[in-house]
Amino acid sequence: MSTTNPQSDAPTDATGRPVDRARVRRRSKQRRRIANVAGLMASLVLTGSLYSVLAPAQAADDTTSESAAEAAGRELYERSCITCHGENLEGEVNRGPSLIGVGEASVYFQVHTGRMPLVRQEAQAPDKPTIFSDEEIDQLMAYVQANGGGPTLPSGNLRDGDLAEGGELFRLNCASCHNFVGEGGALSSGKLAPSLKDTTDLELYTAMLTGPENMPVFGDNQLTPEEKRSVINYIQTVKFQADPGGAGIGRIGPVAEGLVIWVVGIGALMFGIFWMGSKA
Ligand code: HEC
Ligand code: HEC
Repeated sequence: MSTTNPQSDAPTDATGRPVDRARVRRRSKQRRRIANVAGLMASLVLTGSLYSVLAPAQAADDTTSESAAEAAGRELYERSCITCHGENLEGEVNRGPSLIGVGEASVYFQVHTGRMPLVRQEAQAPDKPTIFSDEEIDQLMAYVQANGGGPTLPSGNLRDGDLAEGGELFRLNCASCHNFVGEGGALSSGKLAPSLKDTTDLELYTAMLTGPENMPVFGDNQLTPEEKRSVINYIQTVKFQADPGGAGIGRIGPVAEGLVIWVVGIGALMFGIFWMGSKA
């Protein structure tokens, strides 16, 4: 170890010449600065890539536990329904039943027809304009469906059924309460089977599927999805059908028809009599 040793006191450059110490110091300073910058960049890249690896995983976790719609639905629920249906949908004694397992179909029916949120405790939840937008109803449905499951909404054309079969099924299953042309009628204890005139296809379907209040549930074993579509086709067709005889007059029946003729006819006669009397 006699000749040029790079670690010796007198450093030499590649050509063996001794190097200028000041230049070396400057260079090593530069090298240190470069190392610092490189270190900083490396840590930035590392945090960046760590973030990009971890963040989507977190987002994915969120969607599996609660979607945005469910979260929004939970908020609506906590604002408008929790007092009667409980913190975890388990129901509240003397206020409201459990919603576990009722499914999005029941939520759709109850909220879309304006029955829920109930304002007062009554014999029967009144049918009134809904206070929620369609999007909010979807969110409430998502929340209830995700926390208990139950009957879901049907899809496709809900009138895609046999008209004659629908009429037969309607007379067998619905007419006893809702009357032959779906006008509705009074039931015992202040309850009422409402008119089906203003109901939508989806309300009809979900009413059959969930059986609100005194109405029986027509599950898919009692009325298959095809049979439900036939019933809907029948109800919605009858609503717009020409009347079988005489004037419609809201389809309140032949007695009322006679009454209308009586009142209008007598009215006209009286008018004529008074008119002639005033001329004389
Ligand atoms: C003031 C109390 C009250 C409030 C508030 C209320 N409910 Fe109800 N809810 C009831 C009662 C009582 C019933 C059962 C009687 C009935 O069906 O008319 C019921 C029934 C229901 C049903 C039918 C359950 C079944 O068995 O199919 C659904 C679904 C429902 N409520 C959803 C809601 C939603 C969603 C809200 C909030 C937007 C809400 N309710 C707010 C009292 C309430
Ligand atoms: C035992 C009597 C009974 C039978 C049978 C019955 N319903 Fe009902 N139905 C009711 C009652 C009571 C209500 C009101 C429930 C409420 O207000 O919560 C109702 C409500 C409805 C509604 C909601 C109407 C609205 O106000 O928007 C529809 C739709 C409906 N029924 C359709 C049917 C169809 C279709 C059938 C036959 C497959 C049927 N129902 C059979 C008693 C009955």
